[in-house]
Amino acid sequence: MIKKITCIGAGYVGGPTMAVMALKNPQIRFHIVDINQARIDAWMSDTLPVYEPGLDEIVQHTRGKNLFFSTDVEGAIKEADMIFISVNTPTKEYGVGKGRAADLKYVELCARQIAEFSDRDKIVVEKSTLPVRTAEAIKTILDSSGRDLNFQVLSNPEFLAEGTAVRDLLEPDRVLIGGEQTDAGKSAIDALVQVYNAWIPRERIITTNVWSSELSKLTANAFLAQRISSINAISALCEATGADVEEVAYAIGTDSRIGPKFLKSSVGFGGSCFQKDILNLVYLCDYFGLPEVARYWEQVIIMNDYQKSRFGSKIISTLFNTVSGKKIAFLGWAFKKDTNDTRESAAIYVADQLLEDQGRVSVYDPQVSPERMYMDVDGLGTRSEAENRDRLTMLDDVYEACKDAHAIAILTEWDEFPGLDWQRIYDNMLKPAFIFDGRLILDKKTLEKIGFQVYSIGKG
Ligand code: UDX
Ligand code: ADP
Repeated sequence: MIKKITCIGAGYVGGPTMAVMALKNPQIRFHIVDINQARIDAWMSDTLPVYEPGLDEIVQHTRGKNLFFSTDVEGAIKEADMIFISVNTPTKEYGVGKGRAADLKYVELCARQIAEFSDRDKIVVEKSTLPVRTAEAIKTILDSSGRDLNFQVLSNPEFLAEGTAVRDLLEPDRVLIGGEQTDAGKSAIDALVQVYNAWIPRERIITTNVWSSELSKLTANAFLAQRISSINAISALCEATGADVEEVAYAIGTDSRIGPKFLKSSVGFGGSCFQKDILNLVYLCDYFGLPEVARYWEQVIIMNDYQKSRFGSKIISTLFNTVSGKKIAFLGWAFKKDTNDTRESAAIYVADQLLEDQGRVSVYDPQVSPERMYMDVDGLGTRSEAENRDRLTMLDDVYEACKDAHAIAILTEWDEFPGLDWQRIYDNMLKPAFIFDGRLILDKKTLEKIGFQVYSIGKG
């Protein structure tokens, strides 16, 4: 029986996942630890470090009852029956595999800490997105602790999407648990199955061997991203031919074999997972001597980069081939709506392109902070940090952000944008007033009636 669960890493994955598990398993004590004191303080405060609809209520309900936060990694490891590793695994930025392989230094450090502080058997669950065969590396580190302890390593990849994390956790399509196919491995799998079975029907909990589970996560994300790159490729062809990408997406999506989801053309996918996981897959394929397979998946990323730069170039060419000194208002900076996460957001790369062309960008986003935005762009292009602060600004008021702008670009599909007072925005802009809808959320005809010149992805 599992009585105490620890989670190392209080981020976008660890925080919401443990909060929902705690809600559904009141008999288990959950302890989330992180080396980042500020993050832990935020989890203990009224303003959580992660913005997710529905999360505040769940944390308020469980915090202090069976959900605890601290920086005491050692104590949390010692007390736990089961430990989730939920630390970040960014793409490696140095040395072998630079720009493609996952950087496992945080995971490795966790494994070393678990090996050092454990004084009894533990089940270790990898939750971070990891390359295939990481569980094996974790197990090697754990088993070399020199003590006679039994560690079982499970792979339990996270499929939650940001912005809908709580719903995805409460009602997942499936939960995947990979473990060693031995008696000890199977009983570890069973222990984790029981935790999930508190609210998820048994038939939706899939159990596999460790490597299938790890590879399924990368494959799921690669397939999803591939659909977006495929429809984005078609969006460029639509613009060239006069077809409408939304009509095409609808027409193909009604084929039950294709299905309607993830066919929304956009300025490009962002987020912490898609690019990283595909780069990882590409690295793995090259590593295992499968260059044709590697190049196949790499094309999904190349297409996504093309879509972002195509959007930026469209703004520049429409504004008479230069945005120098011109003000472009960005509506949205997050990589999608209902999150304050900006990792790999298309907005970052489009802004960089416009700033390099000496444009001025004023941003409105209901959840992203100016500090986050500057962190995202500093270091890109040829500009100094001072230049970024001079020409890139963030405003709390959307109408102020759009005032005296030459153009507006929609980078995030926040629900509030279609309902803005577009007549008021138009009246306060320079003319001709352009809108570049990178998210296909605005009604082109209505805006054109007001007087805007509108470009929508895939519609021309
Ligand atoms: C994704 C996976 O969905 C999730 O299962 C996995 O665990 C982590 O990666 P996430 O990155 O949070 O989740 O968001 P997702 O909703 O998948 O969107 C990713 C990006 O694709 C966003 O920038 C989104 O705007 C874009 N997108 C999505 C499109 O451009 N078109 C679509 O049709 C769908
Ligand atoms: P994700 O989206 O995968 O949850 P985040 O970056 O949001 O990624 O969260 C990962 C968290 O893991 C960060 O808050 C980071 O401080 C924490 N972390 C990384 N390494 C360790 C470690 N060795 N011990 C404790 N926490 C760690």
